[in-house]
Amino acid sequence: MMNRQAPPAEFGAVLRSARRKAGLTQEQLAGLSTVSVRAIRDLERGRVVRPRKDTIRLLADAMRLSDTHRAALELAADSSSVCNALRDVYSPELACPPTPVHTMFGRESELRALVELLGSERERLVTVVGLPGVGKSRLAQEAALQVHAWGDIPVLWLPMDRGEGTPGEASHRPQNALASWVRSLMSEGGNYEELASFIEDRATLLVLDGHEMSPATTPALLYLLQSCRRLKVLVTTRRPHHFSGGRLLPLAPLPTAPAPGPSTVPALPGDSLTAHRPAIELMLSYVSHMRPDLLLTDSVTAAVGEICAALDGIPQALEAATAWLLLYSLDQLLAMARTRPLALVDGSPSLSPGSSAPLGDLLDAVLAELPVRQGDLLAAAASLDSPWTVDGVARALGFSPVQAAQDVHALLLHGLIRQLPADPGEAGRPGRFTVLHLVRDLVTGGRTADESATPAAPHLLATITA
Ligand SMILES: Nc1ncnc2c1ncn2[C@@H]1O[C@H](COP(=O)(O)OP(=O)(O)O)[C@@H](O)[C@H]1O
Ligand SMILES: [Mg+2]
Repeated sequence: MMNRQAPPAEFGAVLRSARRKAGLTQEQLAGLSTVSVRAIRDLERGRVVRPRKDTIRLLADAMRLSDTHRAALELAADSSSVCNALRDVYSPELACPPTPVHTMFGRESELRALVELLGSERERLVTVVGLPGVGKSRLAQEAALQVHAWGDIPVLWLPMDRGEGTPGEASHRPQNALASWVRSLMSEGGNYEELASFIEDRATLLVLDGHEMSPATTPALLYLLQSCRRLKVLVTTRRPHHFSGGRLLPLAPLPTAPAPGPSTVPALPGDSLTAHRPAIELMLSYVSHMRPDLLLTDSVTAAVGEICAALDGIPQALEAATAWLLLYSLDQLLAMARTRPLALVDGSPSLSPGSSAPLGDLLDAVLAELPVRQGDLLAAAASLDSPWTVDGVARALGFSPVQAAQDVHALLLHGLIRQLPADPGEAGRPGRFTVLHLVRDLVTGGRTADESATPAAPHLLATITA
């Protein structure tokens, strides 16, 4: 079957970078390779984009390229040879997950669960689902690194939610050449047969990061899994309703309060405010980078803790809010967090280049895709000040309890609402839920039941709360 090929990386750029790495001038390379200086110059300038195979071989030999770099050079010249070029050098070294720049806070149990699933014989398709910015990619990256390092397994990491060829991403790195080729095979209407024949029976972890797939992708994924017996697929997505089988792992925000139950580690003095609260540790690390002059006193930590809670412990929200510290004081941030948490993350100046859309827009997109009934339930629940139960919303909205339970379940999977931990001795009572602050802010536009100009149904709302 013919395939749509990846656009080849610019041969000239790849050649120039390889030549410089080899420490050769154009003249020296010409001397060593017997290719003329003029031909080399034309190639590097892009005047000739498709050199002959012999020329590539001569140049690669002269530069003493490793197998992987030779493959990248061949790929840049002619993407149709990529399959052959990469097949022979496919290895954990060539296929590796991106290296993280920052420490990951918390997530110990989630990471353990994910690595265990990826290592188990039975599970071959695992989907991590959760709100935008909650840390799905970060967790997947950490799990992929462990599989890569401990299992010595190639990891094909495909950022599905980013544009082709992120600037700064060196296309002459063989690793990136492989990833962009595989990604072109995976994209809409892609060529799964070619990918399957490339992976074959080799152990591989394929990570589709930010894969907001349509249900149409499912058969292709299943085909891949059937064709490649030692392939595992890890998907991260914010769309649980497009779930394609396998195991679903819902990812909650980072805890902003310590886990209930007796603490096993005795808190150190001064440590008690952050211990076992990864969200606060994470935000404090952002704060200390943004404002090294701020002493992390108990009152600063307490303020940060309250902001974290108002931002629901969503890492991207914490990062966005901290960016404002250049302009506002911590007290001002705290005041904003108490009234309009969304304002802290929306329109926040972006710190990292190539970072994703503002969180408010991303959340908006999630809400816009909800089926009507779930949207209605969320709107009603969002205008409440106190926790509510499934039966309460069912009664208030005239849904059957089963319907309401299904809708609440779906909202939980999306991560738009959360279940409150049961108090000791209340284990048998029905679960109580709240809508995330940011979601609430987005749905109500900052209004709650008391101040709302057009309350959804104030007489009914009273019956929802437990
Ligand atoms: N546990 C964590 N510790 C430190 N940083 C985190 C953690 N989780 C997420 N982040 C950071 O927060 C931002 C959003 O996380 P990301 O994984 O991209 O979210 P998602 O993939 O769910 O949209 C990223 O900058 C990421 O590095
Ligand atoms: Mg992501």
